Amino acid sequence: MAAGFNVVLGAAGQTGLECVKRLLAVSDLPTRAIVRDPTKLAGALEPSDKLQIVHGDVTNPASLREVLQGARGVIFAAAGKGYWSAADVDFKGVQNVAEVAKDVGVERVVLVSSMLVTRKHWLHPIRILLNNLRFSLMDNKLKGEAALRDSGIEHTIVRPGGLGSGLGGQCTFVAGQGDVMPLGNINRADLAAVCVEALTNPGAKNITLELIAKPGISEGGYEEGLKNLWKGLSPGIF
Ligand SMILES: NC(=O)c1ccc[n+]([C@@H]2O[C@H](COP(=O)([O-])OP(=O)(O)OC[C@H]3O[C@@H](n4cnc5c(N)ncnc54)[C@H](OP(=O)(O)O)[C@@H]3O)[C@@H](O)[C@H]2O)c1
Repeated sequence: MAAGFNVVLGAAGQTGLECVKRLLAVSDLPTRAIVRDPTKLAGALEPSDKLQIVHGDVTNPASLREVLQGARGVIFAAAGKGYWSAADVDFKGVQNVAEVAKDVGVERVVLVSSMLVTRKHWLHPIRILLNNLRFSLMDNKLKGEAALRDSGIEHTIVRPGGLGSGLGGQCTFVAGQGDVMPLGNINRADLAAVCVEALTNPGAKNITLELIAKPGISEGGYEEGLKNLWKGLSPGIF
């Protein structure tokens, strides 16, 4: 088995859990699932020699240093809970992870962000709604993205459309850049497959993309679609 392990932050969340499942299914490396309360994952996953469930909190850099030391790839699927949480989790949490990950030699960080995050959608009713559901949620997500890019660590920022909980593996991925693609949806299992692919695919390096899915598998198959998703995407467009 290759050295190192992959980490999922926010592993008890709906997307985080799908990322853990996908990693366990496709990666040779161990998967470290980071949760604030490890009992939340009890019974949610099949036992596996490759699975570690570890306590951690993205608002606490010391806890991050412990859990990220020795990691190869990191997926940030955490999102704040509570009205005032976005600044601490969706912005500073990402900043903490980027800084610590760079410091301890993580190879790549993959961040789950959101479509409509950019300022060009300042007055979009959905962006305004999301900014009010949790105080300045989208503004803080945008700051989190910038902190990750500015840290200099290799990264991929995935901005999904509306998230669903259906089965994965049945779709065609549609990617965009520059936050101009029409809105759409994607199941969390498919989003997780893209996040896991982004950890190692050379074409995902320093890419920011919007992501939705169309029903039906593309010609060449689902796994091929994941590998080819990055073709034509460029760093520096966000
Ligand atoms: N819902 C949508 O349609 C949609 C659309 C586009 C983008 N997104 C984005 O997609 C991402 C994933 O969404 P989701 O619905 O799958 O998330 P979720 O189910 O709300 O899970 C978020 C997880 O983050 C964890 N968390 C909160 N604070 C933390 C901290 N300080 N340290 C570590 N973990 C922490 C929570 O842990 P606890 O279990 O301990 O509370 C929770 O398990 C979010 O960033 C969301 O904004 C969502």
